Amino acid sequence: MNILTFQTQEALNKAGAGIITALVQTNPKARLGLATGGTPVGIYQELVDAYKAGTVSFQGVSSFNLDEYIGLERSHEASYYRFMQEQLLGHIDIAPERCHIPNGMAEDLDAECRRYEQLLEDSGQIDLQLLGLGHNGHIGFNEPDVALTRSTHVVQLREQTREANARFFDTPEQVPVQAITMGVGTILKAKMILLVVRGKDKAEIVKQALQGPITTECPASLLQTHPHVVVLLDQEAGSLLV
Ligand code: F6R
Repeated sequence: MNILTFQTQEALNKAGAGIITALVQTNPKARLGLATGGTPVGIYQELVDAYKAGTVSFQGVSSFNLDEYIGLERSHEASYYRFMQEQLLGHIDIAPERCHIPNGMAEDLDAECRRYEQLLEDSGQIDLQLLGLGHNGHIGFNEPDVALTRSTHVVQLREQTREANARFFDTPEQVPVQAITMGVGTILKAKMILLVVRGKDKAEIVKQALQGPITTECPASLLQTHPHVVVLLDQEAGSLLV
């Protein structure tokens, strides 16, 4: 695990975008696993800027998002589909048909999970999976539990997760109670994982995830078993690492 700590958000964003840009420049057909939430926004902005500056093209790239809420239309202002359009995909030259995200409005959710997992299987190994970290150690929406699910599945969101995400909704009650998420096994299949964490409020879980025991009670701790993980932290998130 290669852990890098940055003094400013700008430096962190540039480093994260630089890793992704370098990958796409050397492999124009790269398969990117993407995340939503507050953490990647600055990195996505850097990628949009790099595209607009002509430094990188995403024409041949495919994207696969980690997760999506169940029960939100794509057009809903808090859907992850819309988030991705607004923060990244709508501003670069990636082909819309190569942008993938689970369908949280599917009538048969189990069939949708199987479809998404098969799509990932058929598309080949993800070259780089971008991850944020939940306060409880979740990656994607794989919440802490006595056991974890390997492949794409429906998950009940923990109250802590719903509270953390309430900032994207008008009222806390509007936060969906379920989501579709890639499983931990799906995530760990990626060739490389880029974990990004910011803020003092995540310092304790960063320590547990990166230096604590490997346990399903902290899903991100399973990343310790992956051969190629790069972690980008701001100073606050990394402040408890020894
Ligand atoms: C988002 C995702 C989540 C977030 C995590 C951190 O697609 O899968 O695991 O990365 O909840 O969220 P933020 O970045 O909002 O703190």
